[in-house]
Amino acid sequence: MRKRRGAGFDRAVARENSVKKQTTAFELDGEGCEVTCGPDEPLLYVLRNELGRKGVRFGCGEGLCGACMVLVDERPTLSCDTPLWAVAGRRVRTIESHVSDWRLHEIVTALTQAQAGQCGYCLPGIAMRVRALLADSAVASREGIAEALDGNLCRCGTHSRILRAIETAAERIGRAAE
Ligand code: FES
Ligand code: FES
Repeated sequence: MRKRRGAGFDRAVARENSVKKQTTAFELDGEGCEVTCGPDEPLLYVLRNELGRKGVRFGCGEGLCGACMVLVDERPTLSCDTPLWAVAGRRVRTIESHVSDWRLHEIVTALTQAQAGQCGYCLPGIAMRVRALLADSAVASREGIAEALDGNLCRCGTHSRILRAIETAAERIGRAAE
């Protein structure tokens, strides 16, 4: 279990960042962007607060729940646990890229059609994790899907619906890719 940072530590980091702002450039959902703020600012805060990507969820804020997952150079990455400087010059993708990524769109559609979530808070992170799993192939067993999602918590307990929806998405993607 990761140790919770104290408020004093957070204030010290915020103070340090306020004096050391710098501009970081990266690609976000297919378009170039630049952000000027403390380089140690968690990517999650930057995405939500500076760039309007509210679909990236704040869950635990400590790398434990998977709600904040995005793709960095197509690798699943916890944005709460990633400082801004670490994505300089890299490709960041959020759930909002489903409009231009047909595989991710199939995943989102399957989750929605199955009404897989209750509150739905965990689903963007889950969709991004599954998108990475299905990057090269749509062949994924239920065990493989469950294993990949081991770090994505669903507090509403809708895991079985989520698994069924992901299997449906994998089948559709497999058929479309044939
Ligand atoms: S908010 Fe990032 S892992 Fe929970
Ligand atoms: S549907 Fe509510 S946390 Fe997963």
